[in-house]
Amino acid sequence: MWIQVWIPFLLFVRTDSMRSLPYLIPQLYEIGINILLGETLSSRYRRIAEEIGSTKKVLELGCGTALLHSYLNSCDYTGWDLNDSFVKYCQRKGIKVYRKDIFQFSEYPQTDYIVFCDILHHVIPRDELLLKEAIKRAPVIAVEPCSQRRLPTPLLYLYDQLIGDADGINPFKTRMSWNYTKTTLTQKFQTLGATTLEPFDGHLFAVFPSQFLNR
Ligand SMILES: C[S@@+](CC[C@H](N)C(=O)[O-])C[C@H]1O[C@@H](n2cnc3c(N)ncnc32)[C@H](O)[C@@H]1O
Repeated sequence: MWIQVWIPFLLFVRTDSMRSLPYLIPQLYEIGINILLGETLSSRYRRIAEEIGSTKKVLELGCGTALLHSYLNSCDYTGWDLNDSFVKYCQRKGIKVYRKDIFQFSEYPQTDYIVFCDILHHVIPRDELLLKEAIKRAPVIAVEPCSQRRLPTPLLYLYDQLIGDADGINPFKTRMSWNYTKTTLTQKFQTLGATTLEPFDGHLFAVFPSQFLNR
């Protein structure tokens, strides 16, 4: 009975700046993403690491709990994220992660690669601006979902706010407008300059060479 009252009440008082449980508790985020993606999770980080190679400087924007970090071979890794709990969690592990807004373009450090992994679909409709600004500074590797929403919106909202992608930064309404098939996301990334495009178990892996001419 209490669930029937509590869940609608909770959802009624929620605002876009509130986070779902995985975005409040880093350990829960890692368990959740492992359950959701299974073996795909490690294979995508291995694919990113393979593309980067060794001894490179890597900047991951919207790094979450910096899961990519342990896959990189002798690289100098830096992560940016606005989630305090994630940033502190990474810093306690000795990983260079800072609380920074990824739209602070002028503050990007010099780097060999910029990585976007499951972040562009959070910041839509500013995803293309972000990509274009990043490509001006370094080659970009992106891994993003090709997702088509199947649940009715109220159910989707319930899932999102309790255990889904509610990051406390980007509103539900804009996040839900990320609605691409493999074909349409491929077309979008091609238009933005991607040279490598590989389907990856419901995701698309893409490499965008840098447009920074003095490299
Ligand atoms: C789905 S998580 C992806 C995390 C990580 N890249 C991974 O592979 O697990 C998206 C992350 O982007 C962060 N984020 C969203 N908007 C941001 C912004 N404007 N500046 C910094 N971080 C942001 C969220 O806090 C969240 O940790």
